Amino acid sequence: MSHKPIRKAVFPVAGLGTRFLPATKAIPKEMLPIIDRPLIQYAVDEAIEAGIEQMIFVTGRGKSAIEDHFDMAYELEHTMSSRGKDMTILDGTHLKPGNCAYVRQQVPMGLGHAIWCARDIVGDEPFAIFLPDEFMHGKTGCMKQMVSAYKEKGGNLLSVLEIPEDQVSSYGVIDPGARDGTLTEVKGLVEKPAQKDAPSNLIISGRYILQPDVMRTLENQEAGSGGEIQLTDAMAKMIGSQAFHAVTFDGDRYDCGSKAGYLEANFALALQRDDLADDVRKFIKKYI
Ligand code: UTP
Repeated sequence: MSHKPIRKAVFPVAGLGTRFLPATKAIPKEMLPIIDRPLIQYAVDEAIEAGIEQMIFVTGRGKSAIEDHFDMAYELEHTMSSRGKDMTILDGTHLKPGNCAYVRQQVPMGLGHAIWCARDIVGDEPFAIFLPDEFMHGKTGCMKQMVSAYKEKGGNLLSVLEIPEDQVSSYGVIDPGARDGTLTEVKGLVEKPAQKDAPSNLIISGRYILQPDVMRTLENQEAGSGGEIQLTDAMAKMIGSQAFHAVTFDGDRYDCGSKAGYLEANFALALQRDDLADDVRKFIKKYI
């Protein structure tokens, strides 16, 4: 059976980024660089690799740097080109007007509410969601792996990974059913459970493929954990009436919403780069 293709992606980037203050007072968290590319650029590259055509950013006040990043930078480009500089360094940073849309979440009422703000642009088709501070790095991108699974199973898909049990209370956790290779059936979902109530140690890791029905569920969704409108709660309500599967990502994940995860991502990527690996290896030795 063929399933409607995933053409659109929503990037909720309206959060306040309080864990990175004061760095994120005037700069969006999503613009923090992993070496020399901002987090949001990696997420957009991953979407393009997965065949997604339209990027929908849910922004808020103080997030205009994201719009500028994906726009033309006439002065910069003109000056660079007239000086014969290598322009490929800007690859991936131009999104054509038809390929991107921006919508504002006026009050950061939670991830579920941010997604709901994109409902008119998403329309009546399945769509992807990327949380750019979950940095997924693999030979094949996480979303591309998920789109392959979607082509087979349809319905709704989440990316998951195993974490130590004492950390589950910071995340959305799945209640796992039957397993088939990298695919696991999802029987239930709970947002930020106490460790003793967690149904597993498999957490949702920032990538989703959802059916548009989730928008109607979010419409009436009440505030959940942390007083925020939670996407996990809306998805949990759909289980039973719609297929839900989890995909275990074959690759590395860095939680760049946390300082340690962000630093780890920088070191891990630097060690994979020919222009940096030797220098980084040398100075790491000096410190440990
Ligand atoms: P986080 O839970 O990481 O929140 O949101 P945050 O505000 O970005 O960061 P901290 O916890 O204060 O440091 C997960 C994702 O959901 C988006 C965020 O931008 C991030 O991509 N989000 C969250 C919204 O777009 N709107 C919201 O109301 C909440």
